[in-house]
Amino acid sequence: MGPLRNAYLDALGIDRWIPRNSPPEVAIPEVAAAATSPALPRADAPAPTSSPSTWTPHPPTDDWGVLRERVAGCTACAELCRTRTQTVFGVGNTRAEWLVIGEAPGAEEDRQGEPFVGRAGQLLNAMLLAIGLPRETVFIANVLKCRPPGNRDPKPAEVSNCLPYLSNQIALLGPKILLAVGRIAAQNLLATDAPLARLRGKLHHFGEANTPLVVTYHPAYLLRTPSDKRKAWEDLKFARATYSRVIGGSST
Ligand code: URA
Repeated sequence: MGPLRNAYLDALGIDRWIPRNSPPEVAIPEVAAAATSPALPRADAPAPTSSPSTWTPHPPTDDWGVLRERVAGCTACAELCRTRTQTVFGVGNTRAEWLVIGEAPGAEEDRQGEPFVGRAGQLLNAMLLAIGLPRETVFIANVLKCRPPGNRDPKPAEVSNCLPYLSNQIALLGPKILLAVGRIAAQNLLATDAPLARLRGKLHHFGEANTPLVVTYHPAYLLRTPSDKRKAWEDLKFARATYSRVIGGSST
């Protein structure tokens, strides 16, 4: 393990003590049999009845530039488009095999127009690098593309207005694995209200492509609750092992 990765494990608060005769590094939790998620609403589905506006989603596009412009000009949620500085589309490699999905932009993301650039973002970068994924090798997006004022939770109507954009991003990217960080992302992707503790530690699948989906804690939560960093590390190793299995490689 290189010194850089060690430094990131230290940032995660993970001891690098390796016992003699240690078992293989990655234990694969049981696969959740019934954890297949429904597909996100299609971008050309009728507007949700709970929509705060009469906004109708666009049909899906196969052009990243068109999608980016649609998001930038979105006026679906009256409050969010009034209070945002700008939309936060997502960032990363459009050929990435990993898609990391968070909740919504915070204040810093709203200012800079990029997801996960604040303190939580620095920890997310550390978490990804600890499993060998520099930030620029993945794609990072949020369920909501606008910052909810005061960092309140997204409202259900806002989520249903915005999910077609994420759905389109997933279709364009065709990721090999999804990593949902935090309760809001996990619950909305899996269409469940189960607590995060019941969603992490098992393999889910998402959408028509049956893409593997792994859930872990939100880095902002881990900053407040460092005692759960060890569980997050187990999740990350599980995600890495799942990815390795999907691409047909080894699990280490
Ligand atoms: N939290 C999120 O869920 N997403 C961001 O982009 C920043 C903080």
